[in-house]
Amino acid sequence: MYRHPAFYRMLHHGRTEDLEFYLGATEGRPRVLEYGVGNGRVALPMARRGQQVVGVDLSEDMLGSLRADLALEPPEVRERLTLVHGDARVLELGERFDAVTCPFNGIAHHHTLDELAAFLERVHQHLRPGGVFVLDVSLPEPPMLAGMAGEIPWYRDPVDGGVCRASELIEYDPLSQVLTISTESRAMELEREPVTMQLRLRQLFPQETLLLLRHHGFEPRRRELDLPGVIGYVCEAVAR
Ligand SMILES: C[S@@+](CC[C@H](N)C(=O)[O-])C[C@H]1O[C@@H](n2cnc3c(N)ncnc32)[C@H](O)[C@@H]1O
Repeated sequence: MYRHPAFYRMLHHGRTEDLEFYLGATEGRPRVLEYGVGNGRVALPMARRGQQVVGVDLSEDMLGSLRADLALEPPEVRERLTLVHGDARVLELGERFDAVTCPFNGIAHHHTLDELAAFLERVHQHLRPGGVFVLDVSLPEPPMLAGMAGEIPWYRDPVDGGVCRASELIEYDPLSQVLTISTESRAMELEREPVTMQLRLRQLFPQETLLLLRHHGFEPRRRELDLPGVIGYVCEAVAR
């Protein structure tokens, strides 16, 4: 999925309801580390209002798209946003931040308990005393867990404008708790190979999320978000 930033933008540019949550929870915190910065949907508004943001992402394509957008920003905004290519579970930046964020269910990209532990260890390591870890987690949706297949009858390709049709298959493995969303997009007018995209998301149930955060050294407080099925968490790191 993250090899196709234009497709990601087409699907999610309208997601603005969580911005107030991230901007509110990090207000007055000058240095922020964002894991899974993607196309900067959350990081750019922070940089524009004066925060220094380091954005980490595993996808060079997403970072490339953000770099192109950043080039159009005023110099002071460009200076405030630093992009780093790397894996959130591994990367050690050697500095601590006032806040660490992981927007849009980004934690779901860490599938196993070991991957989740490695990720939360990195978060802890990059927070200064008194810093907060801010994230949101999507509630598992029973119809999706039951498995689904669907069609998008037509849409315009966000790169070449051609008419496309997409089919989507959603499968869930209850033992690993990983949901796999496979999308195949076919051009209806142009001669080109179908494009396939896959997204694998660990389903985290709300009580499990609390346990996981507590187990890895955080004291989470839940926050209502203006997005159905999404729970926000603001976590203090507990001294270890
Ligand atoms: C749902 S997108 C969120 C993008 C952006 N923060 C937003 O809220 O729109 C998740 C991002 O996490 C990145 N990602 C996935 N696994 C990662 C990993 N192990 N380390 C760093 N980034 C990762 C993806 O490339 C993608 O850009």
